[in-house]
Amino acid sequence: MDANEFRDKYLEFFKSKGHVIIPSASLVPKDDPSVLFNTAGMQPLVPYLSGQPHPLGKRLANIQKCIRTVDFDNIGDNTHHTFFQMLGNWSLGDYFKKEVISWSFEFLTDKRWLNLPLKRLAFTVYQGDKIVPKDNESSEIWKSLGVNEARIAFLGKDNFWIAGETGPCGPSTEMFYWTGDAVAPEKFDPADNRWVEIWNDVFMQYHKEKDGSIKPLKQKNVDTGMGFERTLAVLSGKKSAYETD
Ligand code: ALA
Repeated sequence: MDANEFRDKYLEFFKSKGHVIIPSASLVPKDDPSVLFNTAGMQPLVPYLSGQPHPLGKRLANIQKCIRTVDFDNIGDNTHHTFFQMLGNWSLGDYFKKEVISWSFEFLTDKRWLNLPLKRLAFTVYQGDKIVPKDNESSEIWKSLGVNEARIAFLGKDNFWIAGETGPCGPSTEMFYWTGDAVAPEKFDPADNRWVEIWNDVFMQYHKEKDGSIKPLKQKNVDTGMGFERTLAVLSGKKSAYETD
């Protein structure tokens, strides 16, 4: 699969699930003094994740240009880049865990879409903390789709997503692809870097305040982000994005 075909498939899939395709925002954010560059597809959408109605509805998808300065020390390995594109889909107070997890599964594994073998996939979910409960619901949804329990790991801060210090946030479930030469081990070890994270579904239902407290948002949202270049490498059977078209 080449880059254009992959981009088209992603947008077509989410269009078929009732999403409106919006353009990438500028790499330099317009009204957000908290960052120099957009670091994720959700960043230009913060007002809408916080409850302001979006003029194009409650289901959006796009491909957002991003620069993540926190990744700078990793640039040059197989999966981190100066500039990257993030495939994203959003529910602004519309669908939630069941729908988005089922769609992620369908897009990754169905023959019509990416057709990735389930035996090379693994998943992480949030282990919970004092305020936010353990996300058994997401784990049960993955299992109901045919995922083996040994391929699901419960993690802490890696599965709680926020763009900066404050703002919309929530627990997440991440999808990993086995890039090793050998058959993927039955038991998933998230510390083994041959498992590469390709997609993150965030359940944005909280807002982190300046004093560190976490309050429920007005609505339950979904924010997903798939790394375009690293997933393209996987789809092309290459070790890194530097080898893709
Ligand atoms: N906002 C989430 C991320 O960037 C999807 O991983």
